[in-house]
Amino acid sequence: MHLHKYEKIWMGSGVGTLLIFLIVLGIGAFYQGTQPPSCMVTLDPTNVQAHEAFKEDNLGLQKLGEKEYTLNVLASAFNYDFGKDEDGNAVRTIRIPAGSKVMFQATTKDVIHGFQLAGTNVNMMLEPGYISTLETTLDNPGTYTLICNEYCGTGHHLMTATVEVYE
Ligand code: CUA
Repeated sequence: MHLHKYEKIWMGSGVGTLLIFLIVLGIGAFYQGTQPPSCMVTLDPTNVQAHEAFKEDNLGLQKLGEKEYTLNVLASAFNYDFGKDEDGNAVRTIRIPAGSKVMFQATTKDVIHGFQLAGTNVNMMLEPGYISTLETTLDNPGTYTLICNEYCGTGHHLMTATVEVYE
């Protein structure tokens, strides 16, 4: 079989383009250990207290510095656990000063739950065995509702909490 010169060039450029594509894709996917932004830290979902962030006393809002916070949240059907206040009551509302940098750190001890702070860019999926983290700055004062956007059972629609960003 005889191939015309232009056919060879055309085939060669086709194979070459494919190789360049695969090389770019390969480097792009693994360059500098690139990974999805969350869910890379694991823990035992049946013993979440073994992890420092989810010990009873460390749940809820932790102040790290001036306008810098970590919010540790333990989700379960059908509740977000922010720990307890001084009177021993479950915290239902988190109050954060506007302009704060907040690291959200959450996990679930039973099934998959959602973690969406409506009106902000905070939106994570919580999977048993993984810690989901997301850092953001809450600039706009207001009352935000934390909702579960993964169907998790009969009380799914009741699974909400409130985050108040104040001036
Ligand atoms: Cu938790 Cu839906």
